[in-house]
Amino acid sequence: MALMFLTETIQAYRERDPAARSNLEVLLCYPGLHAVAIHAIAAFFWRHRLHTLGRLVSHIGRFLTGIEIHPGAKLGRRLIIDHGMGVVIGETAELGDDVYIYHQVTLGGTSSLAGKRHPTVGNNVIIGAGAKVLGAIHIGENARMGSNAVVVAPVPANQHVVGIPARELQRGAKHADFDPYGTPAEPCLDPLLHELAQLRREITELEDRFARVPQDYVI
Ligand SMILES: CC(C)(COP(=O)(O)OP(=O)(O)OC[C@H]1O[C@@H](n2cnc3c(N)ncnc32)[C@H](O)[C@@H]1OP(=O)(O)O)[C@@H](O)C(=O)NCCC(=O)NCCS
Repeated sequence: MALMFLTETIQAYRERDPAARSNLEVLLCYPGLHAVAIHAIAAFFWRHRLHTLGRLVSHIGRFLTGIEIHPGAKLGRRLIIDHGMGVVIGETAELGDDVYIYHQVTLGGTSSLAGKRHPTVGNNVIIGAGAKVLGAIHIGENARMGSNAVVVAPVPANQHVVGIPARELQRGAKHADFDPYGTPAEPCLDPLLHELAQLRREITELEDRFARVPQDYVI
């Protein structure tokens, strides 16, 4: 069981994080993996009503990784917490499979009343760096939260949301495929090449316009 968890989660990092170069590197250097493994132990104690022990293990995990996952939170398979520092996942949060979370994300509550007060996140959701997802809201599968978004209302499946409070992007997410930074893969051009390409486009446009000028006007 533990071996399957490690194997499939390491594999997920290898497939989804372009910075992950080897299984050993992921095993040793990815705090997100460590945090989720420690959470499995904390959650075991929590389920067996050893609440203080669960909290203590969770606290040790936070100390070691900078990621705070309440032992009562339910995590899906192949969860990736990239970079990780500052992530907080509350007690009644529930995450589906293949969720991808960046650093400084909070899955938090908006009420101090006991009971369900944290988000439920569907499969294959990406939550951008610094995003705060607050309250007992449902985030549909394949949805993407922009970096620094504050999400306080449910998000339909396949939707992208940005801003404070988060608003849906009109064109929505049409791509269910994963891309590591939550944005459509557009090659990152060298700024000079980008400028050159822009100049070429402008020259072509000017040539076209010039070709359309009646020859009588050309001196
Ligand atoms: C939200 C996100 C998924 C949107 O991707 P998208 O649907 O492809 O959207 P686009 O990039 O086409 O942008 C659409 C509009 O939203 C705006 N936008 C994009 N991301 C935004 C964000 N995080 N906050 C506010 N506005 C944002 C764009 O400026 C654009 O505005 P415009 O229509 O006025 O020009 C993506 O921008 C994002 O934030 N991903 C998270 C990446 C991340 O956290 N990386 C951490 C790496 S360490």
